[in-house]
Amino acid sequence: MQDKIKHLQDKIEASKLGGGQARIDRQHQKGKLTARERIELLMDEGSFEEIGMLVTHRCNDFEMQEQVYLGDGVITGYGTINGRLVYVFSQDFTVFGGSLSETHAEKICKIMDLAAKNGAPVIGLNDSGGARIQEGVKSLGGYADIFYRNVKSSGLIPQISAIMGPCAGGAVYSPAITDFILMVENTSYMYVTGPNVVKTVTHENVTHDELGGAQAHAAKSGVTHFACTNELECLNNIKQLLSYMPQNCEEDAPRYPYQLQADESRPKLNEILPSNSTQPYNMRDVIAGIVDEDSFLEVHKEYAENIVVGFARIAGQSIGIVANQPAYLAGVLNIDASKKGARFVRFCDAFNIPLLVLVDVPGFLPGTDQEWNAIITNGAKLLYAFSEATVPRITVITRKAYGGAYDVMNSKHIGSDLNYAWPSAEIAVMGPKGAAEIIFKREIAAADNPEAKLQEKVDEYTEKFANPFRAARRGFIDEVIIPADTRKKLIKGFQMLQNKVDQMPRKKHGNIPL
Ligand code: HXC
Repeated sequence: MQDKIKHLQDKIEASKLGGGQARIDRQHQKGKLTARERIELLMDEGSFEEIGMLVTHRCNDFEMQEQVYLGDGVITGYGTINGRLVYVFSQDFTVFGGSLSETHAEKICKIMDLAAKNGAPVIGLNDSGGARIQEGVKSLGGYADIFYRNVKSSGLIPQISAIMGPCAGGAVYSPAITDFILMVENTSYMYVTGPNVVKTVTHENVTHDELGGAQAHAAKSGVTHFACTNELECLNNIKQLLSYMPQNCEEDAPRYPYQLQADESRPKLNEILPSNSTQPYNMRDVIAGIVDEDSFLEVHKEYAENIVVGFARIAGQSIGIVANQPAYLAGVLNIDASKKGARFVRFCDAFNIPLLVLVDVPGFLPGTDQEWNAIITNGAKLLYAFSEATVPRITVITRKAYGGAYDVMNSKHIGSDLNYAWPSAEIAVMGPKGAAEIIFKREIAAADNPEAKLQEKVDEYTEKFANPFRAARRGFIDEVIIPADTRKKLIKGFQMLQNKVDQMPRKKHGNIPL
């Protein structure tokens, strides 16, 4: 028996060495950790159980039978993060550049299937040269097997992708289907076609990083939700992200212990809004004043900054926040903001995370760029996402809620459960000046002093409509609240809604305006 055990131990050691020490050193020289080091940092100590470490490829072309590495370029298995079960795959760049062979794909599919059946998240640590070139269509088939499972698991279990090296060609579509993508600055990139092909086709000169680096995808395309300065930050972000989520769509997110204070009011909230309603303020200050201390994790921070989305806790309960940001483009809704908001709302709804919506929105962004790029279809995504969400939903209008954007931003009319407004709220078809210019056009033109007349009409409109009381009178707003009391109201509101049961009518699936 001893010799057999020794034989096994040798194999395990060989598998752990991946493509060998020289390639491990090369990986380190590039400033990257190895696939195993990443798993060690991600998972609770000693919790990782590997599956398939003795798997090898089945390719005999191009003398591949001479190059066989146990594990075949991906480490797969399960373990815990903060005591909760997760399934993980981590591509090993030291074995054929982490490229995806038929067996490499089978290993990933195996843990994806286990995760779906057992209701726990899947985390993919991607670092791969793409399809295993020597295997041709078998590799392409392997990718499609993964994509298919990504889609089937979507909305069933959380799926998170970290990009920690190359991710090119069709390989990008697995992360794209998962719920969250994190990229590491300087060492990771994602694109469908690389700089060389781009140069040939469009004659543009771009570097890997300009085309598909973390910053490009965080700020320009919005493909990635997090741009991390290094791998450790990336792995820590994954842990934090998971802490707000349930294990699967049948469960609720974990509730953190919280001792209610005798007084949960936050007087600082009374001071945030500037006296002039055209002045900006930072909605993040409002969020910080409402949620449990340091509990806000912003998602998609650098993309469409006119809307802020992220997770937080309120009295220990996990919530998703969608908030207009008056400090950026006056908080206007445009195509990117609508898509960003809608995607986040749908994630929260799929995984039973209640929504808090903070509103200060002057409307939708005008212009040919927006219209020709389909602000109609894209704005409708946000409307659709809120309307179909059955999780507890609470809205607080801090200031402007103008026009269609009032309806879209989780209004009572589209199924919100509780709608509050601060006394500073202005709920109207449009801003007082625009309104006065239209409805009193002739009167203003005929006046001896048109400017004074306009101001008089603006004041009249402001007095009548630029407040929350008309909406409150109709019950569109449940209560006008003092800003300092917002946290108190929300704690009680979310508690009251914790057993909410709501359903969309039975159907195959809706047809969100994609
Ligand atoms: C097999 C690969 C490989 C691949 C890299 N290697 N990519 N082996 N299939 N796709 C091997 C290399 O031969 C090398 O082996 C080792 O991995 C490390 O590669 P290097 O080139 O030395 O590393 P580096 O300089 O860091 O460059 C990394 C790279 C480059 C940029 C990823 O390797 C590269 O361009 N690879 C090809 C990428 C590609 O075109 N893939 C197909 C994309 S199409 P040794 O033995 O020297 O260590 C695709 C379609 C997916 O993926 C479709 C899904 C639907």
